[in-house]
Amino acid sequence: NKVVLAYSGGLDTSVIAKWLEDTYQCDVVTFTADLGQGEEVEPARAKAEALGIKEIYIDDLREEFVRDFVFPMFRANTVYEGEYLLGTSIARPLIAKRLVEIANETGADAISHGATGKGNDQVRFELGAYALKPGIQVIAPWRDWDLSSRESLLDYCHKHDIPVETQKGKSPYSMDANLLHISYEGGLLEDPWAEPEDDMWRWSVAPEQAPDTPTYLELDYQLGDIVAIDGQAMTPAEVLTFLNKVGGANGIGRTDIVENRYVGMKSRGCYETPGGTIMLRAHRAIESITLDREVAHLKDELMPRYAKLIYNGYWWSPERKLMQDMIDASQVNVNGKVRLKLYKGGVTVVGRQSVESLFDQTIATFEDDAGAYDQADAAGFIKLNALRLRIAANKGRALL
Ligand code: ARG
Ligand code: SIN
Repeated sequence: NKVVLAYSGGLDTSVIAKWLEDTYQCDVVTFTADLGQGEEVEPARAKAEALGIKEIYIDDLREEFVRDFVFPMFRANTVYEGEYLLGTSIARPLIAKRLVEIANETGADAISHGATGKGNDQVRFELGAYALKPGIQVIAPWRDWDLSSRESLLDYCHKHDIPVETQKGKSPYSMDANLLHISYEGGLLEDPWAEPEDDMWRWSVAPEQAPDTPTYLELDYQLGDIVAIDGQAMTPAEVLTFLNKVGGANGIGRTDIVENRYVGMKSRGCYETPGGTIMLRAHRAIESITLDREVAHLKDELMPRYAKLIYNGYWWSPERKLMQDMIDASQVNVNGKVRLKLYKGGVTVVGRQSVESLFDQTIATFEDDAGAYDQADAAGFIKLNALRLRIAANKGRALL
């Protein structure tokens, strides 16, 4: 039997590879994805080879990640609990999908991952894997083994000749990164009162260190997705890479929150999402002129539900698909241009235009509208809306 392991090349998943072979006498297939985490993935090949792995998958999934996961999510203006842009959550369904595909290609009957039994990631990997391959076996070593301390883990390495390099200089945080964000948890952050140290942040300058002159950007939208920046056509991954760079340089996209994990606990996390923060603002701006009011409000009502489903690991579910079809259909007219000003951590929309704009200047003007709108109509509109209020008031219903 055979198991496909989501392998980062780091110490934990290297130990897991050996432990799987040891415990189950199975062949291990490693899978390492480039999701734009900003770290080379090729070194994972040498590390897997050194562990004696024979089937090694290393995939560049950056375009697929942004095109099929990040962009669809941003069409809904998705935010979890008011702040979290779901950078880790949205990457897990893609990893789950690839794990299952590789299991099918290699004839493996199990998948494995390095997520702990306390977190969201285990849920996301496993719900995805079960949804796409119902008979799959799942092995989550962190829930099963007795190597829970750093010490016992290192012990295990020495016993099994697993090279333990680069432990010095290792970040004190539990981190996860991809093209959408980098996250920090654990360490000092476990005290929700403790402010993170300046040198924790890796992708952005502090807003107070950002340039004194603003940066302007023009984003082109088609069907709710950014297709060009400052007149230059870009692929989805190129868009996000570019926005991360300018956003980070302007101190944009840092958040420090306590969030509710699906398993029930609260956890403190810090995130840098420069490009995502810009995209959220800009997308709302292009929708502000191209969407019908009730369509926009309906999307806003459903959004927290959609965010929660992604956070909790239900990307591969019928309800997500149903909502996605509706969200995507709402974007047919979301075409046009947004102009932004980035300055010291802030993103300000300074212009929006679209051939599909519903904004009618002749109607909205404070100047003479030449009969486009009859102000006298408003009197009846208000009176009928007040009807039930007046009936209740006449009945003596108290509001004060
Ligand atoms: N708390 C965030 C989430 O659930 C980030 C998780 C980070 N994962 C990690 N393996 N470090 O989406
Ligand atoms: C983990 O437990 O592996 C990371 C945190 C999380 O999944 O929420």
